[in-house]
Amino acid sequence: MSFSGFWKRKAIKSLLQIIIMDPEVLEKYKKAGKICSQVRETILSEIQPGMKILTLAEKIEDMIKEKGGEFAFPVNISINEITAHYTPSFNDQTRIQDGDVVKIDIGVHVDGYIGDMAFTYCSKPDPLVEAAQKVLKSAISIVKPGVTIGEIGEKIEETAKSLGFGIIVNLTGHYLGRYDFHASPFIPNIKNDSKHTLKKGDVIALEPFVCKTNGYIKDSSIIEIYRYIQDRPVRLMEARKILELAKNQFHSLPFAKRWLYRYFSPLKVSLALNQLQAAGALETYPVLREVENKKTAQAEHTMIVDDPPIVTTL
Ligand code: CO
Repeated sequence: MSFSGFWKRKAIKSLLQIIIMDPEVLEKYKKAGKICSQVRETILSEIQPGMKILTLAEKIEDMIKEKGGEFAFPVNISINEITAHYTPSFNDQTRIQDGDVVKIDIGVHVDGYIGDMAFTYCSKPDPLVEAAQKVLKSAISIVKPGVTIGEIGEKIEETAKSLGFGIIVNLTGHYLGRYDFHASPFIPNIKNDSKHTLKKGDVIALEPFVCKTNGYIKDSSIIEIYRYIQDRPVRLMEARKILELAKNQFHSLPFAKRWLYRYFSPLKVSLALNQLQAAGALETYPVLREVENKKTAQAEHTMIVDDPPIVTTL
């Protein structure tokens, strides 16, 4: 290594520390985040009781595409005690009812750089929904370089408690990486002893789930979301094609079962997914339900750590 090369590299490195991240990468994060927030504004102005959640999901996914984004995961529309990982099935007849607590979680990527954002809709003013927003806001207010994951968890738990609510203990926020929608370390929503400190330029998503008192989620038997893990030999031709789609077209990011009906018949989709799951080629995301059927509300933003943080999905 030559001397000049060494110093040049040092100069570039210190410049990067000032400008937080590669400007092109920053623009892509911002674009992905902006699409999330535009979708939220449009959906909040149109959503109402009686609407089919399948129509809503298709509208959201069409908007993301129109605006030049790709899906980091299928839109999750989880109602009441269904806490996460529900995306409508291809012939889903579910409609939003008056007073339902409807969590909408959207993941958009631009060239692999992800915006992950969630909000909760209810047809009536609901303190639970407001609490989720307040808890998220208070957590964001302490984000800066040097803050620990433990401190963030404590802030989230204490804010929820001060508002008279609990949180879902076994769901967390997380880091984001390129094409990596749930990078580690995870960021618990409760007090914890992690001394991991946030660094300038880290990309994180904070996503507290609030409920009446502290709650827990468990897997249900419903699965609508899958993700590529590894190539495995499978007999069915459709299974091989789905694995190819999962790996390349969906970039190993989560995908919805309903997206596959564009290519294959419902019977073939079910057979192929079963084969792929049994072979260990795909990971599944079962729908998550609160164990005591408590209603949950969620709020989530993606941010780039700085002082103050750059919240991309605002
Ligand atoms: Co997230």
